[in-house]
Amino acid sequence: MLTLGINYSQMHDSSACIVRDGELLFAVAEERISRAKHDARFPRNAIAVCLEFAKVHADQLDEVCFGWQTAGPVFRHDLKCFAAGKMPLTYLTGLNSTLHFLSMWHQQSGAKKFAQQFGPTRAKMRFVDHHLAHAISAYAYSGFDEAAVVVMDGRGAWEATSIWHGRGGKLDPVLTIPFPDSIGFFYSGFTEFLGFQPNSDEWKVMGLAPYGQPGVDLSTFIDVKTMPYRVEARQIAGNGTAFLSKANALLGAPRVPESEIEERHKNIAYAVQDACEAAMMNVVKLAIEKTRCRNVCLAGGVALNSKANGKIAASGNVDQFFVQPAATDDGVALGAAMAPHLDNCGKLPNKPMRHGYWGPCFDDEAIESALRTYKLRYKRLSDPAAAAAELLSQGKILGWFQGRMEFGPRALGSRSILADPRDPEMNAKVNNAVKFREWWRPFAPSLKKEAAGEYLESASDSPFMILTAQVRPEKRSVIPSVTHLDGSARPQTVEKEINPLYWRLIDEFEKRTGVPVIMNTSFNLRGEAIVNTPTDAIRTFYSSGMDGLVIGSFQVEK
Ligand SMILES: [Fe+2]
Repeated sequence: MLTLGINYSQMHDSSACIVRDGELLFAVAEERISRAKHDARFPRNAIAVCLEFAKVHADQLDEVCFGWQTAGPVFRHDLKCFAAGKMPLTYLTGLNSTLHFLSMWHQQSGAKKFAQQFGPTRAKMRFVDHHLAHAISAYAYSGFDEAAVVVMDGRGAWEATSIWHGRGGKLDPVLTIPFPDSIGFFYSGFTEFLGFQPNSDEWKVMGLAPYGQPGVDLSTFIDVKTMPYRVEARQIAGNGTAFLSKANALLGAPRVPESEIEERHKNIAYAVQDACEAAMMNVVKLAIEKTRCRNVCLAGGVALNSKANGKIAASGNVDQFFVQPAATDDGVALGAAMAPHLDNCGKLPNKPMRHGYWGPCFDDEAIESALRTYKLRYKRLSDPAAAAAELLSQGKILGWFQGRMEFGPRALGSRSILADPRDPEMNAKVNNAVKFREWWRPFAPSLKKEAAGEYLESASDSPFMILTAQVRPEKRSVIPSVTHLDGSARPQTVEKEINPLYWRLIDEFEKRTGVPVIMNTSFNLRGEAIVNTPTDAIRTFYSSGMDGLVIGSFQVEK
């Protein structure tokens, strides 16, 4: 059976993947190809490269599976919320909701777009409930036979948080907390209040939080003492004036984007993160209690909160823990594509996802052709890993472009900017010269898996940079540029068997420095999508302060 998974909701992070007989072959987010960050348009380019990779035409697909309900249920739930007073009905909220419905309805929720772009197909069009698609994306890739599966995001058609019980390849719904009682909505509301882009910059709030102090009271907006949590949705929903004026009255004026960060903003970030962590911990505890299972899977945009994930992993409540690395809506393509396996009492396949390298790849021939096109001076390397390690040990900031691109928001050693984590100034150097991003956002370490115990207090198995761990106190001064203010780091543990080239780079760095850790951040500039093609990489290299580029078997220096 050949299935195509799609995320398309006109909200954010459109994506596609292709699955053959329960095996994921290829996955990519539309933003990587279109270069428009969080691209919410129909993922025409992503679908095209999925089909190309599998060497099939659209009419050879058995099913096209969308990770969303059709337009009708989304709109009906909005109307119910307006009627029940759970969301304020204003000219703007009513109009937005209606326009979204009409647009999706006109496109048959994506099916018509698919036929227009790829021609008629005999494939069945399937619309999978959004949270079920998230839940499958966690459970079916966890490798756990039994698991408590938790989905937390901004919204599905009607869901905000859901708990599922995965057993023997089946997923049973346990509990649903309907939208707008949504942790994601709460967090994105305050992301906007703090002058950042909602559904995009939640990282910035999380990174800012440790700089704040406790004391800000958010009980008007969220109650985490009532199990598992209650978001005062009327105070948040509407995503605009009502929320902003309420928050304004209680917390002062919203921060103007790009303006100075004040102590007040840091303290609000602290309170938002603290409430989010408490709510997530409560939901996980409830899921364990309801399912009587201590293997936990997470998905949904809220599950990108690596700080909360780290606390859940280290809480002692959980035996095994898997967070779908493409936790936000790009990942529902992965779940939707597996959904047909549940038909007729069938079972989901369950293959543990151990890496994120599901995207496009460019061989040396394609890379050299791009280098020649731009008339660049380059040299061929006999050992790219050793050459890169040597440059890093000399303090150089490097672009590293190898193999298949990552699926999900993190760069994991295929499309990465690398640097020396021992230099306490490196954080500032990379921030100023390369990423042009906010001073408080921490960089993450990639380390050899076998060295995790020596450097970290937990997270000895963290292939996806999706949970934080405390750096051992005696190691914080060894890798200062990847240790956050509160002693935490968001590590990627690199296994030799899974990414031998990247592992060897770190190994070569260790041979030169004694430290089996490098700084790894995504290969992009601020506000741009991670690079996909050699051309993207070259353009980004020359638009930044990177010292060198190791791309395939080639080295480019300025
Ligand atoms: Fe979602």
